[in-house]
Amino acid sequence: MTITQTTKSATRILRFDRVQRAAHWANATLFGLLMLTATPLYFGSFFGIVMQRHLMAQIHLWSGLALPLPIIVSLLGPWGHQMRRDVRRINFWTRSEIEWMRTLGKSPIEADKFNPGQKLNAIFIGAVIILMLVTGSILQWFRFFPVPWRQGATFVHDTFSYAIFAVVIGHVIMALTHPESLRSMFTGWVSEKWAGANASSWLKEKKLTKESPNSR
Ligand code: HEM
Repeated sequence: MTITQTTKSATRILRFDRVQRAAHWANATLFGLLMLTATPLYFGSFFGIVMQRHLMAQIHLWSGLALPLPIIVSLLGPWGHQMRRDVRRINFWTRSEIEWMRTLGKSPIEADKFNPGQKLNAIFIGAVIILMLVTGSILQWFRFFPVPWRQGATFVHDTFSYAIFAVVIGHVIMALTHPESLRSMFTGWVSEKWAGANASSWLKEKKLTKESPNSR
């Protein structure tokens, strides 16, 4: 697949390959299931669905255990080169990106493929996958852990649930209010115009490396 294509109306650029889109939607589905089942687990009797608690807990547990899989599978193997490249991008912060964060978006920035907010979101999601998996496993196999560990795990699991709800809801609002970004997560492509306005540094980089099929 070429990285840029000229259609009748505009030049479009590949932002996410199939592997990345599949990983994103598998991850989103698992997060959705976890958040849906977490609510009655937390509020149980309050919602009057105590009878289904066992089923909710099972769906929650198995979705939780599967949670790291989309990212691991999409990163490993020959199909994961763009995913690995984007992980490196997300972990690379320029001085002006740090300044942009420090000034809450007031300082000028030439945005990379992902802006600092998108990078932070990805880092948060990666970190909470590990944290929720570890604390969730302690909640599930509590017999093997001393009481202070169980209490700590419950506290961390619950506290980060609030943060996850806030970040995921914010992420969905951003997606719904930025239709071209959202469309690229379905089709893979963005217009050159969009890239110029939202990811100018990435667009420049792509123009320089246009002919290389590996440089996305
Ligand atoms: C989006 C990520 C997640 C969220 C928002 C979330 C949230 C929650 C919440 C709110 C509870 C109820 C805790 C309470 O009653 O005080 C819970 C319980 C639990 N979670 Fe998670 N969780 C997530 C991921 C995971 C993962 C990755 C695992 C992996 C094993 C897991 C395993 C469990 C277990 C075993 C319980 C106890 C269920 C029970 O009471 O029978 N969770 N979770």
